[in-house]
Amino acid sequence: MKVNVGVLGAGTVGGALVQRLLLDRIQIREKTGVDLELKVVAVKHLEKPRSFELPPERITDQAMSVVSSPGIDVVVEAIGGLEPTGELLLTALRSGKPVVTANKELVATRGEELFEAANRSGVPLMYEAAVGGGIPVIRPLAESLAGERIDRVSGIVNGTTNYILTSMAQDGRSFKEALEEATALGYAEPDPSDDISGRDAAFKTAILARLAFGEWVAPWQVECLGIEAVSRADVEAAALAGKVIKLIGVAERVGRDISTRVSPIALDVDHPLAGVDGVTNAIFVEGPAIGRLLFTGPGAGGQPTASALLGDLIQVASRRNWQGKAPSYRRPRQVLHR
Ligand code: HSE
Repeated sequence: MKVNVGVLGAGTVGGALVQRLLLDRIQIREKTGVDLELKVVAVKHLEKPRSFELPPERITDQAMSVVSSPGIDVVVEAIGGLEPTGELLLTALRSGKPVVTANKELVATRGEELFEAANRSGVPLMYEAAVGGGIPVIRPLAESLAGERIDRVSGIVNGTTNYILTSMAQDGRSFKEALEEATALGYAEPDPSDDISGRDAAFKTAILARLAFGEWVAPWQVECLGIEAVSRADVEAAALAGKVIKLIGVAERVGRDISTRVSPIALDVDHPLAGVDGVTNAIFVEGPAIGRLLFTGPGAGGQPTASALLGDLIQVASRRNWQGKAPSYRRPRQVLHR
């Protein structure tokens, strides 16, 4: 079962995915029965050095030609940002191509529109890689927990800020040094102000809220405070008081409403999230039947995020009959305002 794959973007995450597709094709085919043929990679700058080798005819700077090509079966997006990515993915979906994306900003901001396009074409839109890097949390929420009446989803959903806070607390780094390290390790966004300001965590919190409660929450509706104002002195003062500062995202039911917020919180050292360090993310899901579940693992970085993309890609590719099927990852809308 051969599936022709077009990849958009070859930065930290896209580059890691391309490596995996080139190196592990046979192993994936033997394990899953799916033969993923990487047809083309769209990049912004053709001349930029890459972490993989491909013949020139398989690299293009014309992303639109990839999403509209009849020779491509599935599109994987790792460009990020709202434009031109939004139009690219809508074009892919409207032309009947399943889409796998890591783009939390786009899913959080234009998810409704994208899912409508996916629904119309009867193709899946998958986004496990958009929240929690390599942690499987989207599919468990959407599928395994579809029968649970979820009360609350909360936790550490940004690797860069957690890396910075940990580095300041444990290694005595300044904010600037820690951010430089997080950038060098491929954790931070191209514009790290989205990490620092809490916006990135707000996108992820909005996506989790949608999955948990069946309601779209716009990212701007998430109350958001980042870690710009957190200094090493604050981190040290917290430690003296037996506390650890973490940037926490919360989506919860409050009466008939949904409350969503992102902010730094000083947790007691014995809080289960207090020892979640570095790039690690950790997400609690709470409900009456399940009590409290914890999903934890590497929340950012090329390889873990590419692993999530690859999982979605194999899932999509193994469903040869995706035409006419409802897209995955949609929960039935729950009536909240009765
Ligand atoms: N910049 C993001 C983070 C990447 O640090 O969590 C993963 O979404």
